[in-house]
Amino acid sequence: MGPGDLARALCGLALRSHPDLIVGLERADDAGVIRLSDEIALVQTLDFFTPIVDDPYTFGQIAAANALSDVYAMGGRPLCAMNIVCFPSRKLDISVLQAVLRGGLDVIHRAGAVLVGGHSIDDPELKYGLSVSGVVHPERVLDMRGALPGDALVLTKPLGTGIGGTAVKAGLAGEGLLAEMSASMIALNREAAEALEGLGVHACTDVTGFGLLGHACELVERSEVGMAIRAERVPIFGGLEALAAKGLLPGGLHRNRAFRAGMVDMDPAVPEPVQAILYDPQTSGGLLAALAPGEAEQLLERLHSRGIAAAAIIGEVVDSPAGRVVVR
Ligand code: CO
Ligand code: CO
Repeated sequence: MGPGDLARALCGLALRSHPDLIVGLERADDAGVIRLSDEIALVQTLDFFTPIVDDPYTFGQIAAANALSDVYAMGGRPLCAMNIVCFPSRKLDISVLQAVLRGGLDVIHRAGAVLVGGHSIDDPELKYGLSVSGVVHPERVLDMRGALPGDALVLTKPLGTGIGGTAVKAGLAGEGLLAEMSASMIALNREAAEALEGLGVHACTDVTGFGLLGHACELVERSEVGMAIRAERVPIFGGLEALAAKGLLPGGLHRNRAFRAGMVDMDPAVPEPVQAILYDPQTSGGLLAALAPGEAEQLLERLHSRGIAAAAIIGEVVDSPAGRVVVR
């Protein structure tokens, strides 16, 4: 499945709206949001995928942190989660699944949420993830609309998990990179989301499968603005440029690029490996938030003091050219 395939498959189906629907398919965002009362809205999301690291416990943690992320990206707080499991029971020992589930559970607990159930099927390939429900105040839903010209863009995690994962599979990633990437993917976006509280966040999303530029393009479309990204300010895992230069690029990166390159004005002076990294599909990536420059500085201080060291201001929202992402 490539970017936008699910949206294309849904196209033409008779979807229904609902008076309490705050975020639904007609303006699909990180998660669905429906109002339950004047004070509470339900946030719903799910994600699952095949292992991207060998260690099953680490994989479980990454998959859970990734699934929980969309609740944080909407400004919500996760309440409960359900396991989604595809397991090759004739191929793998049940202890592998136990380690995956233990990883998931540990992260669910770190999120302050509770595991309430799940579903498993036999499948030729191991897949794991979560369905997550959370809550948010209906007036404090963060979404991709509302970014204003002049806003600074803050990114909270380094890029490169797709290229890094490809290098791991090829046996070309060092232990240091694997450890750095795993730590980043296991880290919940909870701390970053809490750092956003009380600041005037105009728009927010998390950087995942579409890559930084794919999600930047979505934000530009929803907010009806333009964006200027400074490539040298974008945090990237150490050693990633060398791996990208070797051509260790995942298929998703090429699809992301083909899908969005027409909306991006890329300065040819940006080194090719960095251009590629900006389209790299991320697993459990960071939050991308747009807020006034002064507030962005404040956010950065909060993030750094909470140990989110890689967080950086990577560019700004502009009014012209509208509908474009300029990278220089
Ligand atoms: Co998302
Ligand atoms: Co997702």
